[in-house]
Amino acid sequence: MIIALPPDALVLLVGPSGSGKSTFAAHHFAPTEILSSDAMRAMVADDPLDQAATEAAFELLHTALAMRLSLRRLAVVDATNVEGWAREKLLAVARRARRPAHAIVFDLPLEVCLQRNLERDHPRPAAAIRRQHRWLRESLPQLASEGLGGIWTLSSEEDVDAAQISRVAPALSS
Ligand code: UTP
Ligand code: MG
Repeated sequence: MIIALPPDALVLLVGPSGSGKSTFAAHHFAPTEILSSDAMRAMVADDPLDQAATEAAFELLHTALAMRLSLRRLAVVDATNVEGWAREKLLAVARRARRPAHAIVFDLPLEVCLQRNLERDHPRPAAAIRRQHRWLRESLPQLASEGLGGIWTLSSEEDVDAAQISRVAPALSS
């Protein structure tokens, strides 16, 4: 699949922990294009997994997102984004900046996410991954009505490996 993204878009990565969002982002986007909740937690609390830093981390992330979009810079949000309210807050930032928003959805089998999690240095609780995977599945039918300019769904490891990013010209009205 060729994922065609306007160069001034908000790009939401959507998928449970272990679905490969950060790996994909590192492969396809410049480090400065990626706004990651883990990196923001590390910035404020020295620990990317410190859940007590989540509120501050997302405040920073939303602020940086608004700034990048106002400067017409691509902004890839690397967070799970499996909850509708979390996506809506990010999409509201894009609407206020009058920029397009796209989603890249990591709809991989739960077993793949759980297995990869076990192989990580710091595995997340399996219950959290199961819950996030359920929220992703519940989100899938809703995504089409959230005002996204493109929804790019990767449903297998083969889909992820074959995906390519193409930067298209921005719309004249943007
Ligand atoms: P990621 O760290 O990319 O997942 O991969 P994620 O979606 O960003 O997870 P969270 O939300 O931050 O927790 C998880 C593990 O899976 C491996 C990575 O090396 C990492 O250890 N992985 C990822 C693969 O083995 N193959 C892939 O194609 C992608
Ligand atoms: Mg990650």
